[in-house]
Amino acid sequence: MEVEQINKGKYEHYMQKEIHEQPESLTTTMRGRLIRGGSCKAKSVLLGGLKDHLRTIRRSRRIVFIGCGTSYNAALAARPILEELSGIIVIMEIASDLVDRQGPIYREDTTVFVSQSGETADTLQALEYALENGALCVGITNTVGSAIARHTHCRIHINAGCEIGVASTKAYTSQIVVMAMLALAIGDDTISSQGRREAIIDGLFDLPNKVKEVLKLDEEMKDLAKLLIAEQSLLVFGRGYNYATALEGALKVKEVSLMHSEGILAGEMKHGPLALVDETLPIVVIATRDACFSKQQSVIQQLHARKGRLIVMCSKGDAASVSVGGSCRTVEVPVVEDCLQPVINIVPLQLLAYHLTVLRGYNVDQPRNLAKSVTTQ
Ligand code: AGP
Repeated sequence: MEVEQINKGKYEHYMQKEIHEQPESLTTTMRGRLIRGGSCKAKSVLLGGLKDHLRTIRRSRRIVFIGCGTSYNAALAARPILEELSGIIVIMEIASDLVDRQGPIYREDTTVFVSQSGETADTLQALEYALENGALCVGITNTVGSAIARHTHCRIHINAGCEIGVASTKAYTSQIVVMAMLALAIGDDTISSQGRREAIIDGLFDLPNKVKEVLKLDEEMKDLAKLLIAEQSLLVFGRGYNYATALEGALKVKEVSLMHSEGILAGEMKHGPLALVDETLPIVVIATRDACFSKQQSVIQQLHARKGRLIVMCSKGDAASVSVGGSCRTVEVPVVEDCLQPVINIVPLQLLAYHLTVLRGYNVDQPRNLAKSVTTQ
């Protein structure tokens, strides 16, 4: 562990430091793994730890993502691009639930274990189960030499640097980037998606700069935290690539600020959550530009019609068009490739969770009842 990784430097808390070092942690995650291409060579991705297993992965019947908490959410954010570029069925499993159900895992499956610490007991138990069932096991961890790194057949290290705050922040964004690179590597043999892959690779090169830009929202999110300080609850609505952002944003708010928060799939709004909407409950709606944008515009209209107290996260330049005549608060974020947008969109929510916690007077780095690495079941 490097000394500068342990010192808080100019920051008051590790969580704050780790949020703000994401431009650097993402750069380190991608270092040496993105190939710029040349006159006759296509842009591509090189994941050394996987190169001997890529053919087997491409022939898998299913890819099964397995993790807990934030690591599960990161996999959920990466699922759509993996489905798109690989054409393989991608299944999501919460580690403890897979073990409880003894869910089906086959020899023809590739199972991907996502864990910042690499030591989470539930994820390790699921790994043992997948090994017994003969699946190929891939590890995605931030800890070289961890149990998950040691027991999987092959692995990708996310290289996010040491994460000390119990709330995972920089590991989340690095995990998404690694899984986007995994999708690019698996889909690398498909000519028809080459243009799409190259656009994503260009987007990855530029991502640290875009994260620097979104971090400038720090003061704005502090002001929003001041407004929300005494609330009982906060809902976060997302869909598509940003369903994961809704779950992860709500997880950050609840685990550190101790405010009840729930991430909701916007498509499920009419199937229950709508009953909660009134003029008092704050609701964050993620409505950045992607294939789901018009559906999210309609969600905003419907919540507004029920007097919902909305905070809309939108793409830069869209504030006027999503704020229903200026009646909703907006947070504008930079636009990146749709599959990378969750990396940008989570940052304001991490900042909000951080400021809410400090303002409410709770311990940011050691939330009540939680441990950084959950090694018991
Ligand atoms: C993240 O903020 C949480 N502290 C928690 O959900 C965590 O992501 C989960 O316990 C999984 O940990 P892992 O990534 O080390 O396996």
